[in-house]
Amino acid sequence: MRPLGSFLHGSPSHIATKILPRHRDPRIFKWALTSPPTFSRHRPHHHKQSQKPNPLKDYRAFNLAPSFSCVWLASLNWVAAMAVVTRVSHRTHSGISPTSGLALACHLLLLVSSAITPCFGFSGVGGEDEGNRGGELCPEILRDEAVARLHQLGKVSDGDGYLERIFMSPAAVRAGNLIREWMEDAGLRTWVDCLGNVHGRVEGGNASAEALLIGSHLDTVVDAGIFDGSLGIISVISALKVLSINGKVGELKRPVEVIAFSDEEGVRFQSTFIGSAAIAGILSASALQITDKSGVTIQDALKKNSIEVTEDHLQQLRYDPKSVWGYVEIHIEQGPVLEWVGFPLGVVKGIAGQTRLKVTMRGSQGHAGTVPMSMRHDPMAAAAEAIVLLESLCKHPQDFLSFDGQCKSYSLESLSTSLVCTVGEISTWPSASNVIPGQVTFTVDIRAIDDMGREAVVYELSNRLYQICDGRSVLCTIDRKHDANAVICNSELTSKLKSAAHLGLKRMTGSVQDEVPVLMSGAGHDAMALSHLTKVGMLFVRCRGGISHSPEEHVLDDDVWASGLAVLAFIETQL
Ligand code: GLV
Ligand code: MN
Ligand code: MN
Repeated sequence: MRPLGSFLHGSPSHIATKILPRHRDPRIFKWALTSPPTFSRHRPHHHKQSQKPNPLKDYRAFNLAPSFSCVWLASLNWVAAMAVVTRVSHRTHSGISPTSGLALACHLLLLVSSAITPCFGFSGVGGEDEGNRGGELCPEILRDEAVARLHQLGKVSDGDGYLERIFMSPAAVRAGNLIREWMEDAGLRTWVDCLGNVHGRVEGGNASAEALLIGSHLDTVVDAGIFDGSLGIISVISALKVLSINGKVGELKRPVEVIAFSDEEGVRFQSTFIGSAAIAGILSASALQITDKSGVTIQDALKKNSIEVTEDHLQQLRYDPKSVWGYVEIHIEQGPVLEWVGFPLGVVKGIAGQTRLKVTMRGSQGHAGTVPMSMRHDPMAAAAEAIVLLESLCKHPQDFLSFDGQCKSYSLESLSTSLVCTVGEISTWPSASNVIPGQVTFTVDIRAIDDMGREAVVYELSNRLYQICDGRSVLCTIDRKHDANAVICNSELTSKLKSAAHLGLKRMTGSVQDEVPVLMSGAGHDAMALSHLTKVGMLFVRCRGGISHSPEEHVLDDDVWASGLAVLAFIETQL
């Protein structure tokens, strides 16, 4: 593994010129906070996965020796799993399946065979010969079925030829139904709540104990990749399915509940975390009246799907903090660090805070051919100036912000390493090439690990936008659509996740000497909302090129497997 230590010392320019390829931003690597590991190999994988890889090829110790019975069991499981997938897809599309009898028979055979020859028979984290379970790793569920499901879910889209699932859209509802079927297939009790979150729960041996919640989101951005959100849901369902096949669910000392949250991306309503915020008890009743671009409120969007939600329902949805032990989320990294260091899994130390603004600039609409340049009040030119100003401010905050006393060094240090700002959406009215626009609207997304620094940026940006608009006699309004403070993950959960990731990889490869990397997250996650309810921890999974929010998003099949093994090892700490 490429040592991280070298990224933590020296000036950014020194790092950029001496160590990093030119396109890599050294600030990203300052977020990786692990001690220098000893792994010496670097295996970037910029290739597309054209054929099924040798699962062991991407890892270090290659001493698994599958026995005949394991091969037999794996084949049987594979046939059964495929039959179940067939059954699910038939059920989804036609209601009655001609293959359901065969599927059921195969599935029963799988359960019987699993009861006789359990997939694992593990004793949990810290048990003996943990790293030497050759062949008993359930790749047919934790990798092959999980990957097949990721691709299947990735096709559930409102877009034609691209992936898009926004809050309560037809595709989001179909995706929720599919996830619910998979939860039931894993033996979970399921329900959909009044904000469209899909839940699956096992009570374990003590239904009244504090529950472990594990989840991620089922919505996507527009033109999304198939792993963002979905990986966290599917790998947990797969792990619980393995636990169930092994007959271990009853031994859990607390309930485990998987939640597929209905909105993390905030594409439709710009507010983000609608589903997880309701569960955490931080969604105000007034939020139900937020409108999308067509004027549809959150409440109406739910009603259209026969879900009634009132203030009372919101109150009931809120989980009692005393009933919850903690929240864990598995997610693709969405950044390049794990690939860079050559390690498939990492744990998250904290999540950057974020603010989303909607800026509207109104000027004088007019004829592009007749209004002299000196007489224009053009909101498009004002928006362009504002966007370039935002870029400068976020690249060089020290040139724009003034700090006093202690705040100065803290904010400047953290801002210079973590501040990122984006204008991702812009619209004009009336949007024609021969018309000076009357109105321009754009979004601003600002993130930093230092909440005070982020506030300072929002304040400075707002002042400067008003100045720009004043100078051009353009009206400017700034709506604050979303705020989430930075979150520090719980150290107990982080350390358990670290051990689980280590153990999962050890089971897969035979031995792992290296430290599991510890990262900061620049992306937002439902864990931010859940941190208002309970302690949170997160596990990151390597993705190709650090690319996310793009159809190019990719996770190796074996890394999906690694995440399933890690989450299984984590859940086993609750046996
Ligand atoms: C969600 O992916 C976000 O960070 O915006
Ligand atoms: Mn996500
Ligand atoms: Mn996302």
